[in-house]
Amino acid sequence: MKEMEPLFKPRSVAVVGASRHPGKIGYAVVKNLIASKYEGKIYPVNPKADEILGLKAYPTVSSIPGEVDMVVVVVPAQFVPEVIEDAGKKGAKVAVIITSGFKEIGRADLEEEVVRRARKYGMRVLGPNIFGIVYTPVKLNATFGPSDVIEGSVGFITQSGALGIALMGMTIVEKIGVSTIVSIGNKSDIDDADLLNYLKDDEETKVVLIYLEGVTDGKKFMEAAQNFTLRKPLIVIKAGKTAAGAKAVASHTGSLAGNVAVYSTLFKETGILEASTVEEAFDWARAFSYLPQYEGGQLVIVTNGGGAGVLATDVLAENGISLKTPPEPLVNELRPKLPGFASLKNPIDVTGMISSEGYVEAVSAALRSEGVGAVLALYCETAVTNPEDIAEGLIKEVNEMGGLKKPLTVALIGGRKSYNAVEMLNNARIPAYPMPERAASAMAAVINYVEARERVRLRLQELGNS
Ligand code: COA
Repeated sequence: MKEMEPLFKPRSVAVVGASRHPGKIGYAVVKNLIASKYEGKIYPVNPKADEILGLKAYPTVSSIPGEVDMVVVVVPAQFVPEVIEDAGKKGAKVAVIITSGFKEIGRADLEEEVVRRARKYGMRVLGPNIFGIVYTPVKLNATFGPSDVIEGSVGFITQSGALGIALMGMTIVEKIGVSTIVSIGNKSDIDDADLLNYLKDDEETKVVLIYLEGVTDGKKFMEAAQNFTLRKPLIVIKAGKTAAGAKAVASHTGSLAGNVAVYSTLFKETGILEASTVEEAFDWARAFSYLPQYEGGQLVIVTNGGGAGVLATDVLAENGISLKTPPEPLVNELRPKLPGFASLKNPIDVTGMISSEGYVEAVSAALRSEGVGAVLALYCETAVTNPEDIAEGLIKEVNEMGGLKKPLTVALIGGRKSYNAVEMLNNARIPAYPMPERAASAMAAVINYVEARERVRLRLQELGNS
């Protein structure tokens, strides 16, 4: 979709309302563009300044000598229409309007005026009432959020600004690499569907996560979502599910939160994976971004603690995944290496007396076993093992295999060393979590996505044939 290209890959960015004063949003945006080492040209626009953060400033967009692809607007709401007019005349292709004070406070008229002026010049509008956009492949950080986002393959679209900025920070702490972070706020023009249509073909994005309050054009969203899920997983956190939540949504971004049942049906039909919490959504996104696709075959749990296995089994069952007896060659390989009281059903309980090496060996055997399509490794910290050794061992095994060939999620449950081990695994791109339910839920999402995609494909095929 060529039209959206300047939003993600602008060759130049003008910041209108670039401020001389640290602490102002217009200053932070320019600072972030510089700090992220944005590859294009940066033009601060401020009639009162000659220079901002070492860059020459211009009084208006139209006075900039070179071409301008993107304008980031950070001036008070009443000045936005004239800024858009000037940027339109200059030939800017997209306006990223950070400014608040439009539909969300009852000024739909001002918002419509802005969009009308932009359309006149064929310019697209992101926002208003947003924190900006990040696209790491071209090192674009046109936001007033954190400057040190980690590059990766998760695309994150958020209708909430402040929460979005906070989650942007969380991706850094949680070491979730992102390809893009888009704040869409009031969605006066560019909406989720436009972004999905672009990102489905974006090679840098493997999975998209949306924080969604409401959809304005249901049909457009549905079409974009199903086309997207045919290619890549789409995770949605739907906010405003209760009557009270819906009321809060209306005064937040001016969207209609809609009927819960309608959204649930929409999500199911389009293959969307609905996460119930932010934590869950990020857990899933991490798994999708690190793992190869699930290609079928049974899921095997390897655990050194029966309880962890039971908790994980419950979560899988709640997500429609049942466990079958492990393949016989795997059972035969493991039996002589395990105590007589070990259970070789599924979950495979290697028992609490297993050594670190023994545990790694069992997980590795499951990963190598034909007929096993995915492995969920659960480990409870004991005094006879060291979680950091386990993480190191698993990383070594996976490297020796030439990387993961099938999905693996890991939970290491315990104290400080277990937390370190979780971090070690995540750094090595093996999705790891501190709780068995979280590893199980991420694995369920990975498996269920493939089924959801197949359902969408068949439904569309039927519709095409009817
Ligand atoms: N063209 C270029 N620059 C202009 C201008 C214009 N037409 N009009 C004003 N400016 C300059 C100002 O001189 C100022 O620069 P300075 O600090 O060097 O003097 C800068 O632009 C900003 O203008 P100012 O009037 O100081 O506004 P502000 O920084 O106090 O507020 C917004 C501007 C956009 C940040 C504010 O109106 C707003 O909407 N805040 C909420 C943003 C938000 O939360 N968005 C949602 C996030 S999730």
